[in-house]
Amino acid sequence: MVFAIKENISWVGKVDWELRAFHGNEYSTHRGTTYNSYLVRDEKTALIDTVWGPFAGEFIQNLKKDISLDKIDFVIANHGETDHSGALPELMAQIPDVPVYCTRKGTESLAGHYHQDWNFHVVKTGDTLSLGAKELIFVEAPMLHWPDSMMCYLTSDNILFSNDAFGQHLATELLYNDLVDQAELYEEGIKYYANILTPFSKLVIKKIKEVLALNLPVDMICPSHGVIWRDNPRQIVERYLQWADAYAENQITVAYDTMWNGTRRMAEAIAQGIEAADAGITVKLFNVARSDKNDLITEIFKSKAVLIGSPTINKGILSAAAAILEEMDGLGFQNKKAAAFGCYGWSGEATTIISERLKEDGFQVLNDGIMAKWNPSRDAIENCVRFGKDVALAVQS
Ligand code: FEO
Repeated sequence: MVFAIKENISWVGKVDWELRAFHGNEYSTHRGTTYNSYLVRDEKTALIDTVWGPFAGEFIQNLKKDISLDKIDFVIANHGETDHSGALPELMAQIPDVPVYCTRKGTESLAGHYHQDWNFHVVKTGDTLSLGAKELIFVEAPMLHWPDSMMCYLTSDNILFSNDAFGQHLATELLYNDLVDQAELYEEGIKYYANILTPFSKLVIKKIKEVLALNLPVDMICPSHGVIWRDNPRQIVERYLQWADAYAENQITVAYDTMWNGTRRMAEAIAQGIEAADAGITVKLFNVARSDKNDLITEIFKSKAVLIGSPTINKGILSAAAAILEEMDGLGFQNKKAAAFGCYGWSGEATTIISERLKEDGFQVLNDGIMAKWNPSRDAIENCVRFGKDVALAVQS
């Protein structure tokens, strides 16, 4: 598919409706994705990013419908990750002398992936590339989300090619933000931020402020995944500023694993206590062993507090509970409260282990957690309800 964004700009990417797992099996993509590649024509022609390697042949065949490859003057590699650079080996084999514009770190990641000595041209923030009447201005964006990441801005058309930033894993043939289901777009946008960009939130704010200070008009933001922001593109920039600033809605997430339903019953009683104390708080419960971890991370991202539950097993915690704590550790959530709970039969280490892990992960742990011996008794359930009320009050204080 070739899709004219403007008379001089074509989308030449790939819509991947089938994709259900990204980054290996690390990120669930319930709605597929797109790999966006853009062809910009002026007196000179630039190709901005490519697609994931398995689609390289299809990409080049498609590209040839729009342009003879020898008419491409510049290749812009905003980011070396293979979902955007994967077609470069096949493409560059056909146009080996065409310069590849990227950051210094981009030369390392591209060489590291493909071990090819392409005609690299290193660019820095503020460097420009003339296409004729228009030019591309490069903006390095290190750690958004790789050291090599950069964006580029096309003058006159006022388009920011933002690469991964402002993207979503959302397959669509419609390609514009105003044409897709808005709830789906929001869900995929916040999931993308929560799971990929959270660790870099301070840099997100800094980079956005740096770009806004340039006072460049932006008519469209063209990311490398999902829709093009043409209707009020500033809306996603403002969302990013909110999400990057210790984002939380009025929500508490209760995430637990359970062996014989005792810890599940504790979770439900705790939720009952939270609701009794403050009906305005949204409480969501997830059995971590049965939930999509990226969707759960998104719910935690949206929460003021997270309660993690596991029974004790072999002096430790259940593996699904351990896995979500590991995921939370890497993301570095800011300004969130937390507590632990769980059943035990004899030794009962789980709540201490979870509490310590939460502290290590930067959560403000509210208390020592709550335990219940064997299958929770009526008294134990009432204690959990009280625990939930106390948590709700502490979260609101
Ligand atoms: Fe979409 Fe970092 O690659």
